[in-house]
Amino acid sequence: MNQQTVLVTGATSGIGLMIANKLHENGFKVFGTGRHPDKHKVPFELLPLDVNSDESIKKCIELLLAKTQVLDVLINNAGSSLGGPIEETPVEQARKLFETNFWGVVKVTKAILPLMREQRSGKIITTGSLSGLIGAPIIGYYSASKHALEGFFKSLRLEVKQFNIKVSVIEPAFYKTNIGTAGERVAATIPDYDLIRKRATDFVGESIASAPTPEPVAELILKIVNTKEPKYSYPIGKNSKFLPTLQFLSPGMFESGYLKKLKL
Ligand SMILES: NC(=O)c1ccc[n+]([C@@H]2O[C@H](COP(=O)([O-])OP(=O)(O)OC[C@H]3O[C@@H](n4cnc5c(N)ncnc54)[C@H](OP(=O)(O)O)[C@@H]3O)[C@@H](O)[C@H]2O)c1
Repeated sequence: MNQQTVLVTGATSGIGLMIANKLHENGFKVFGTGRHPDKHKVPFELLPLDVNSDESIKKCIELLLAKTQVLDVLINNAGSSLGGPIEETPVEQARKLFETNFWGVVKVTKAILPLMREQRSGKIITTGSLSGLIGAPIIGYYSASKHALEGFFKSLRLEVKQFNIKVSVIEPAFYKTNIGTAGERVAATIPDYDLIRKRATDFVGESIASAPTPEPVAELILKIVNTKEPKYSYPIGKNSKFLPTLQFLSPGMFESGYLKKLKL
């Protein structure tokens, strides 16, 4: 039986819950996190964590280290969304998203690094997004937060390879989870954006509603955890390889195709 120890942030729903369940079923010692662990019944241990709070991160890692001396895998999965055109979005609202999607991930990673560096082993796997590889309307700040993660982890990978710490990012396309309903929407204030806001919001909503459940993402994480030398990037889901390649090789075709899809 595999006795590796794993921490999965945001393990109360969606992708994180499926990852944590999958690893638990496969014999890993799983610690998940959520902001209100008492509200959830799961077969693995849930620790309280709000990645927007430095105090909460500190307490969570202290609690974790009181329960285990070793952490083999950190899975940075907690994240949120924000929908709305860039010009309409108040900077404070965008900053809040970055607190969760970027700084929260940075802070948890930095809190775990001393242990992994001392162990001279570990894997850090982060749930990025296809939106971290391409741009798209009404999810500009979400996309920016996920692009920021790419730069951060590509750099970290090179810094900590010498300590036998393996850094990877998965880049899922749409999967059916609570992300659309749990995330925030920007108040509509500029009528010029009415059409693109509606078309793009409908497109994202319909794409999540018709997407598969994130079982393949959990399978992918299991594969990465069991791989000795994982790659950096793991795009997964519909068009997750095609769209970044198209945007890179033929930006004009990417743009006209995207806008055509939104009937714009
Ligand atoms: N679904 C997709 O199509 C898709 C595609 C690409 C990437 N992703 C990424 O996948 C990850 C998981 O999202 P999901 O789709 O599974 O959505 P979800 O069902 O809404 O799950 C989000 C998870 O993050 C946790 N979370 C949210 N804010 C938090 C905070 N401030 N501190 C700590 N935990 C927090 C939630 O826990 P509590 O609310 O219990 O605290 C929950 O467990 C995110 O990073 C998201 O960007 C999703």
